[in-house]
Amino acid sequence: MTGGASGIGLATAKEFVERGATVAVLDRTLDGLPEPLHGFTADVTDRASIERAVAEVAERLGGIDVVVNNAGISAVGTVAENDDAEWARVLDVNVIGMARVTAAALPWLRRSEAASVVNVSSIAALNGLPQRALYSASKGAVLALTYAMATDHVAEGIRVNCVCPGTVHTPFVDRMLQGFADPVAERAALDARQATGRMVAPEEVAAAIAYLASPRSVSTTGTALDVDGGVSHL
Ligand code: NAI
Repeated sequence: MTGGASGIGLATAKEFVERGATVAVLDRTLDGLPEPLHGFTADVTDRASIERAVAEVAERLGGIDVVVNNAGISAVGTVAENDDAEWARVLDVNVIGMARVTAAALPWLRRSEAASVVNVSSIAALNGLPQRALYSASKGAVLALTYAMATDHVAEGIRVNCVCPGTVHTPFVDRMLQGFADPVAERAALDARQATGRMVAPEEVAAAIAYLASPRSVSTTGTALDVDGGVSHL
């Protein structure tokens, strides 16, 4: 589980523990990580740190059955507002990070009888959201990466799916709101944007990830599951 120290990742790690799993959290910061989660400091933009952490996870916990590629960062702006350095920074975390972590875990996933990879994309991959050009491009790439990885590894018994959450009330959203001139008005707009009238809870995304990670979804690979309060299709 990458980015498991906060928000959707932390809620998912807790859900997995409730279902009896042993969970490793790879995050660049592990502050306040609760028991019994196993914390490993790693940055998904640093291939060496990922390879080290993934090998340590497999050695200490006895293998790897599931990878949840959740670590991600936000970006606000149109193409006129994000410079090249910002594009490189966000794509490095949100897209290449998922490829690095999955590649590092493949040797153990190939040995698993229940191998599953779940990537966290976003409804930003499916809808034209205002002021999210870079972020949307990064999450669209996650969707395409999911289909490509599912195709490449289906014969090895490794399933790959993704979730597309709507706006989920996590620290990620609270930080992004601070970038707006009127955070309170933007918060109200985010709630109103979901057809259900409220932001999605992290635990609701966690339940979807847990389903895709578990053998209960054994015939599901190369799919995207929306958890979006109806925003994409209603
Ligand atoms: P968050 O900011 O609460 O948690 C993200 C975690 O990822 C943090 O613990 C952070 O330390 C970690 N992280 C960030 N960069 C990292 C790096 N380079 N290496 C290792 N760890 C790193 O965010 P939240 O909201 O839980 O988001 C998680 C995922 O869900 C992200 O991929 C985000 O794009 C996606 N998402 C979030 C939505 C939302 O509305 N909150 C909606 C749709 C998707």
